[in-house]
Amino acid sequence: MNFLITGGAGFLGAALSNRFVQQGHHVRVLDDLSTGNPDALSPDVHFTRGDINDRPKLWTLLQDIDCVYHMAARVSVPESILFPRDYSQVNVCGTVTLMEAIRDAGTPRVVLASSGAIYGDQTGAMMSESMPPNPFSPYAVSKLSAEWYVRTIGKLAGIETLCLRIFNAYGPGQRIPPSHPPVIPNLIRQSMQNGTLIFHGDGNQTRDYVYVDDVVNALASASAVQGVNGQVINIGSGTETSVRDLARLVIDITGGDPEEVFNPRISGGVSRMCADISLAQEKLNYVPLIPLEMGIRLTLERDPQFKNGD
Ligand SMILES: NC(=O)c1ccc[n+]([C@@H]2O[C@H](COP(=O)([O-])OP(=O)(O)OC[C@H]3O[C@@H](n4cnc5c(N)ncnc54)[C@H](O)[C@@H]3O)[C@@H](O)[C@H]2O)c1
Repeated sequence: MNFLITGGAGFLGAALSNRFVQQGHHVRVLDDLSTGNPDALSPDVHFTRGDINDRPKLWTLLQDIDCVYHMAARVSVPESILFPRDYSQVNVCGTVTLMEAIRDAGTPRVVLASSGAIYGDQTGAMMSESMPPNPFSPYAVSKLSAEWYVRTIGKLAGIETLCLRIFNAYGPGQRIPPSHPPVIPNLIRQSMQNGTLIFHGDGNQTRDYVYVDDVVNALASASAVQGVNGQVINIGSGTETSVRDLARLVIDITGGDPEEVFNPRISGGVSRMCADISLAQEKLNYVPLIPLEMGIRLTLERDPQFKNGD
């Protein structure tokens, strides 16, 4: 098959692109490299640097594509609170631009990398697709809005759509930016360097951490599966882990001795999050294969940024 993967030089996009070319598919990537790394891509991937709002580039890249994976986005919750307009421009406007181009090019299918963040605080931890969204941040609002644009334009134009609400993905290849780093690679680095683990709130907030290979399995199966048009499906591990317990696990595995600092004045965000993955099991035959401890060990083994203890 021929795929276009927007944001394909990013953490999840590169893993998906490389999986597809390994399987003999043709992959084009569009990425502006604002956070992505083209060196993470197999030489067999056709890489184009460009912005998701660049319509002529999209029209060219969409020729003869069977399925688009829309993964280009700004992805930091705290950053979105500071710069909501930028998040709307890329995550919402960029999605509308892409959907118009997909409609005009006649591309039959699009899969959106959406987010479990759209649920926000709910009464329990388990989040199922039937729950009304309760977004907590501009990032979450932008992903929810992207879902609705994808589904609505898809329905109007006869494009098959599927939105996968991914929970907290982690694994080799995840960047550690200087500000607002993702929790798992940051904990690993701080623990290995005997640095400082800073907990927002009391550290009892829970998340559903899902290993990158499991996410890629789910994404890959979305290109050809039937009977899912217009649907929204959760992708997580189905297991809830508090940030404190996660930190303990990382410290045990790395053998580090970091200092732990609690900052109750900064909100820990949504208090509990765990994906109900029964719909993914039913529709995509999705079964997460890598439990958290194994995933952290694999990350340490496979990610070059942790090889030398840095
Ligand atoms: N990693 C997770 O835990 C997670 C969870 C839920 C949803 N998602 C979604 O999955 C997708 C991929 O996330 P990721 O973790 O790989 O993040 P990432 O930042 O590594 O990847 C995003 C990619 O999009 C590119 N990009 C950003 N703005 C762009 C623009 N204007 N034009 C073209 N490219 C642009 C970046 O350069 C980057 O390569 C995103 O849509 C994100 O919202 C990720």
